[in-house]
Amino acid sequence: MASTTAGAAASGGTADVPENANQHCPGTSSDQAGKSAACAGCPNQSICATAPKGPDPDLAAIAARMSRVKHKLLVLSGKGGVGKSTVSAQLAFALARRGFEVGLLDIDICGPSVPKMLGLEGQEIHSSGAGWSPVYVEDNLAVMSIGFMLPNPDEAVIWRGPRKNGLIKQFLKDVDWGELDYLVVDAPPGTSDEHITITQCLQGAALGSGGSGGAAAVIVTTPQDVAIIDVRKEVSFCRKVGLPVLGVVENMAGLVLPAERAAFSAVRVKQADGGAGPAEEVEEDVTAQVLALLAERFPGAALRLRAEVFREGGGAARMCADMGVPLLGRLPLDPALGAAADAGRSVLAPEAAAAGAAAGAAEAAEGVAKGGLEGVAPQACIAPLMAIVGKVVEQTAGVDGKAAAAQ
Ligand SMILES: Nc1ncnc2c1ncn2[C@@H]1O[C@H](COP(=O)(O)OP(=O)(O)OP(=O)(O)O)[C@@H](O)[C@H]1O
Ligand SMILES: [Mg+2]
Repeated sequence: MASTTAGAAASGGTADVPENANQHCPGTSSDQAGKSAACAGCPNQSICATAPKGPDPDLAAIAARMSRVKHKLLVLSGKGGVGKSTVSAQLAFALARRGFEVGLLDIDICGPSVPKMLGLEGQEIHSSGAGWSPVYVEDNLAVMSIGFMLPNPDEAVIWRGPRKNGLIKQFLKDVDWGELDYLVVDAPPGTSDEHITITQCLQGAALGSGGSGGAAAVIVTTPQDVAIIDVRKEVSFCRKVGLPVLGVVENMAGLVLPAERAAFSAVRVKQADGGAGPAEEVEEDVTAQVLALLAERFPGAALRLRAEVFREGGGAARMCADMGVPLLGRLPLDPALGAAADAGRSVLAPEAAAAGAAAGAAEAAEGVAKGGLEGVAPQACIAPLMAIVGKVVEQTAGVDGKAAAAQ
């Protein structure tokens, strides 16, 4: 069937009128589709005339599955490589540590990162009478990705839109998640087929219950203008399709390292030939000396090095204020986070997570800082990550009592 505009569905207009349709289009699901006088000359005429009519039969099955999932969080960005999968994976880990029932669905069909980031490479999915069984990391953290279906992880998946859309529908319809508090969806970059399909399916399935069916977007950006420009488009996409924006995560917001991971060099410019020749730079590694001086000057302290890598001054905060969407937090570039993603584990130390679950982000941050003073280099991303997770729970808490109770 000709593709319809998500915008039409969202605006409460005719959900099944393609964007390029003629005026007075009867709608792709009408008996008159492709046959009415208004269809003459429409580019969709032949496809509409032959396609099956009526509401999408998959929607009822999707609605049945999704009615058991309280909150669907679509992790989106207009830009690639800004940390959507990292945020999805760490959010899923952190929500599960707070005791919620969590599912993580990877709809990045051409570049699935979730199996690697959850430490599940080489796992396979099994099907039973109840549907496809997701792969479990923990009792309350279930994962589904096309990565589990590929015989060779190095193989490129070259699929056109309709096939990708078919698999996304199948993920929503056939995966036996059971009861979930949160389904975190890791999306590919942009605003293309996959995004429209998942939004339309979730909204279509929720039509009976009204609203967005508990679906909302978590948008990830970096502080760079190039990312923020694309993220503005993502926010406007969400508006067009009627997907509430839960908030924005500014990722890679500054670099934070334990000082001992930094290298220091002394750079001097020397003029060749006693001043007559070209100037040349001489760089000397002085890391050991600098670290020794710092240790002497600040005994017992774990020193952190911070630098704004991309730009100073909170580009995402401004964009959020301009566009009227909440900023969930700023996550620094932290080698601990990259290492956790590569190792397929949660960056949250068990004690920090426990503190967070019991007492909230501030106490967790304090606990981490204390741990640091006892000699373990603190992971700078933990406090901001806990704060982001806290806000996600808070923003979604109004909808059910359990989330509120977990505060
Ligand atoms: N805050 C961070 N600190 C350190 N490393 C990070 C951080 N955020 C992301 N990374 C690393 O950057 C790389 C890209 O991140 P990720 O794969 O999550 O981006 P993405 O937006 O999902 O990319 P794609 O658009 O390709 O799906 C990964 O190797 C990840 O480990
Ligand atoms: Mg990704």
